[in-house]
Amino acid sequence: MTTLLRGRLLSFKRAPQSLDDTDSYTYENDGGLLIENGIIAAIGSYAAIKGQAPDDVTEVDHRPHLILPGFIDMHVHYPQMQVIASYSANLLEWLNTYTFPEECRFVESAHAERIATHFYDELIRHGTTTAVAYCSVHKTSADAFFSEAMRRNMRMVGGKVMMDRNAPQGLLDTPEMGYDETRQVISDWHGKGRNHVAITPRFAITSTPAQMEATAALAREFPDLHIQTHLSENHDEIKFTGELYPDAIDYTDTYARYGLLGPKSLFGHAIHLSEREADAMSEAGAVAVHCPTSNLFLGSGLFPLKALARREKPVRIGVATDIGGGSSYSMLRTMDEAYKIQQLLGERLNPLESYYYMTLGNAEALSLADKIGTLDTGTEADLIVLNAAATPAMALKMEVVKSLTEELFLLQTMGDDRAIVETYVAGKPMKSILQ
Ligand code: GUN
Ligand code: ZN
Repeated sequence: MTTLLRGRLLSFKRAPQSLDDTDSYTYENDGGLLIENGIIAAIGSYAAIKGQAPDDVTEVDHRPHLILPGFIDMHVHYPQMQVIASYSANLLEWLNTYTFPEECRFVESAHAERIATHFYDELIRHGTTTAVAYCSVHKTSADAFFSEAMRRNMRMVGGKVMMDRNAPQGLLDTPEMGYDETRQVISDWHGKGRNHVAITPRFAITSTPAQMEATAALAREFPDLHIQTHLSENHDEIKFTGELYPDAIDYTDTYARYGLLGPKSLFGHAIHLSEREADAMSEAGAVAVHCPTSNLFLGSGLFPLKALARREKPVRIGVATDIGGGSSYSMLRTMDEAYKIQQLLGERLNPLESYYYMTLGNAEALSLADKIGTLDTGTEADLIVLNAAATPAMALKMEVVKSLTEELFLLQTMGDDRAIVETYVAGKPMKSILQ
């Protein structure tokens, strides 16, 4: 099956250096994108692509809207869809009061399946075509997560959480159970459909040294897998971690000493890193995943994104919603808050950088840029169609918008799921078929 999309095409080639870095992206004002069997077969001007399309091609005209690669969310907890909007003073209180009790419910597969269905509906509604997710400690939650991903043919990364202390009994595994069940999840799901399994120790506070050893063994046995965990989010969390791992130099070292600091390692938050920790992250090629709505909502701190990116030893960066510590499923809302955090730090985050991070930047941070994150030929046709005049207030502002970067900034500042006209997953329109 061959489809030809017509619209304004925008795709990044590399990280933009400034707002006028037009070499960092490709833009076709009247563009054509040819999709064959879920893969981007050709991209260019509409006239050129139309010329090479088969006679029986299905054409969809999305003018005057923008067509971009689908957004990527680098850190999200699908079992926290009913934790979002919980009134709490800080991270540890929020975890103990709301989050841990809620995650206990995922022992029931019917509950996990119901929430997984809602989760994918929300991703599609908000234009997110790939997410890196935490399941709960229960294998049932990972089964529900990956089977629904397969049903929708989405490229997803996820992991059964490993945690064996400092949480309610219903949320604890053991070093052996965490190891065995993670191995089972890998053999059941990794590489099936578009699924990737991530090794997922929740964070140092909820894993004993014995469980960290088991995690280290998994990392050695499956060196290609992503590893995801939390790092340096909150001052009380950092202090408690230091007490639990007195031999570690610092929080980052608690993971490094178990072989968990490498180029496939994704560290949620990483707000309060020392220079030594940032150096260690940089040397290992590990990724700091910025979760702006969560960091503001939980009062965790201001992530120094620009400062980390311009270091002599730069730290790789991803961006994410962190539902349910985060307060929006929308990557547009997420980058609006990221922008404001940099404002408070006296830094500028320009709109080209924001859209780079949501697409190619996150794909690079996942080492998946050969498959997702761009409109390059040969990559998977996960795409979104964006309308910068989606609401009356946006349409009014659009009357005075003069450039592509102004339009992108308007979408980021005022946009949400209403600005996502369509979400294509492997070439198939998925948003318009939602209930
Ligand atoms: N640290 C450990 N678990 C979590 C979680 O679920 N959310 C956030 N924001 N931080 C965590
Ligand atoms: Zn998290």
